[in-house]
Amino acid sequence: MDTRAKKRAAAEAALRYVEDDMVLGIGTGSTVDEFIGALGASRLRLRGAVASSNATSARLKAAGIPELDLNSAGDLPLYVDGADQATPQGALIKGGGGALTREKIVAAASVRFVCIIDDGKLVDVLGAFPLPIEVIPMARSYVARRVVALGGEPVWRQDVVTDNGNVILDVHNLRIEDPVELEARIDAIAGVVTVGLFARRGADELLIAGDDGVRRITTATP
Ligand code: A5P
Repeated sequence: MDTRAKKRAAAEAALRYVEDDMVLGIGTGSTVDEFIGALGASRLRLRGAVASSNATSARLKAAGIPELDLNSAGDLPLYVDGADQATPQGALIKGGGGALTREKIVAAASVRFVCIIDDGKLVDVLGAFPLPIEVIPMARSYVARRVVALGGEPVWRQDVVTDNGNVILDVHNLRIEDPVELEARIDAIAGVVTVGLFARRGADELLIAGDDGVRRITTATP
């Protein structure tokens, strides 16, 4: 099975968590695009969805799914999103598509986070995928120096401006043994808007698509 087919399989498996009349949080990326497509083709009728990016807003519109503002939606029962890397404990690297800040907000506001990935993204230790950090533009060099002091090699993602008007540093050369601790340390650097480590609030369930079907790992007490 190729990667695209695995993404579709994981996305379709997430449909079983969705109920009619739900307000759903929806992430960003090619796996989520498969999920939105599957939702649109299903008989499920959502009350609406809260999008984690402008790209997802456009996808929702195209699928005929009403978009709601998080400020009026309140806490959400379910958030569905992909990831760039995931551990079996539910810690994630996210932000390869640049949408990490709104993704982290919608994940935080959701009771349950179901993460849909292909099996190539499941790892024991995060870090081989460069860790994205969204940064206030004037703090770019300062944050980069602080990240070097932590042992990383930051690379400015040039020509990218996030939906929030900020820039992204991708941090290479990290071996993230303690994701909760590193998330807190990077969050504490002035000028950091969001680090793409989702460990303090990671995924509650991983749906991992491989050649033999979709495997589920529950990381949180249901
Ligand atoms: C978007 O900023 C990311 O967090 C995505 O969720 C992540 O990059 C996964 O994307 P794909 O589903 O396209 O692999």
